[in-house]
Amino acid sequence: MQSLTISLPDDWHLHLRDAQALRDTVPAAARQFGRGVVMPNLRPPVVSVSQALAYRQRILATLPRNQTWEPLMTLYLTDNTPTAELREAKASGQILGVKYYPAGATTNSDSGVTSLTRVHPQLAVMEELGLPLLLHGEVTDPDVDIFDREAVFIERELTPLTKRFPGLRMVLEHVTTSEGAAFVAAAPPHVAATITPQHLLFDRNQLLAGGIRPHYYCLPVLKRDSHRRALIAAATAGSGKFFLGTDSAPHPRALKETACGCAGCFSHHAALELYALAFERAGALAQLEAFASHHGADFYGLPRNTGTITLHRNAWRLPEELELGGEPLIPLAAGDTLPWQMTERSAGATA
Ligand code: NCD
Ligand code: ZN
Repeated sequence: MQSLTISLPDDWHLHLRDAQALRDTVPAAARQFGRGVVMPNLRPPVVSVSQALAYRQRILATLPRNQTWEPLMTLYLTDNTPTAELREAKASGQILGVKYYPAGATTNSDSGVTSLTRVHPQLAVMEELGLPLLLHGEVTDPDVDIFDREAVFIERELTPLTKRFPGLRMVLEHVTTSEGAAFVAAAPPHVAATITPQHLLFDRNQLLAGGIRPHYYCLPVLKRDSHRRALIAAATAGSGKFFLGTDSAPHPRALKETACGCAGCFSHHAALELYALAFERAGALAQLEAFASHHGADFYGLPRNTGTITLHRNAWRLPEELELGGEPLIPLAAGDTLPWQMTERSAGATA
């Protein structure tokens, strides 16, 4: 096969940052996708509907005129989120879901939830409203090994949560383990997961063997290869519960290459090409369109996109360096050669 045309994909989990950075991140997000679910972990975090709508305007102001792309906004859940704010979020029609960060788990998560039990009133209202909970699924207990934090979260927090709120719509964002994939596969249809390109392509050796490679450091951290293979199986099985979410999370080079570097990989320079490589290696290119372009829209009850993108088999070398708000940024898989390259995008964002 020399070319592959699929419905225009959506990115169900991404980070755009703010201010100067938007000039680089917004066009990159709009290049290959029809819509993107914009994470709220700014400083300060996006905790109110008015903040989310103002952020949405700043994003749209940097969208190039010739690009059609829709930001789908999220709210950052805190211990003190008023339930009235959740009702307003639903009523606004612009807020797709509410993001749970365990306090201290990842980049800009200091205002996150200190314990899920403290937000039971908010979760009850979200369950009633059909407002999805987007989960950063890791415990932050310092006694739990960083490689076990997702599996322990599922056992200690997520399993009880699904019993207490059986109707709550949930997405286990950037799932990284066989335990996570198995949990979602066995859960009811209103529980789903997103998967990043790095977790489909790389294991922890890529991060740590033969030298530490900070540009492969993200959270949840890359796991051993058996987990990567479980994610490949989940993504390529045709199940509507698993869909594309790049977790593209840019940090300037200087904040990655340092004694205590930030977590996050930027992947919007080649997101579809990276997924295509992972799917092709698994002999499952035919499943790419459903994963990238159908399952997420179906889960969220949104129309599938009407446009298309085309990838060609054409070996190309990924850039070594890009820019983020005037500072150098090293993208995921910098300098690697990929077999597929996007060559065309046809008009049409959403139906
Ligand atoms: C994200 C970021 O940089 O905002 N980092 C990451 O490693 N994924 C935060 C997140 O999604 O955990
Ligand atoms: Zn993220």
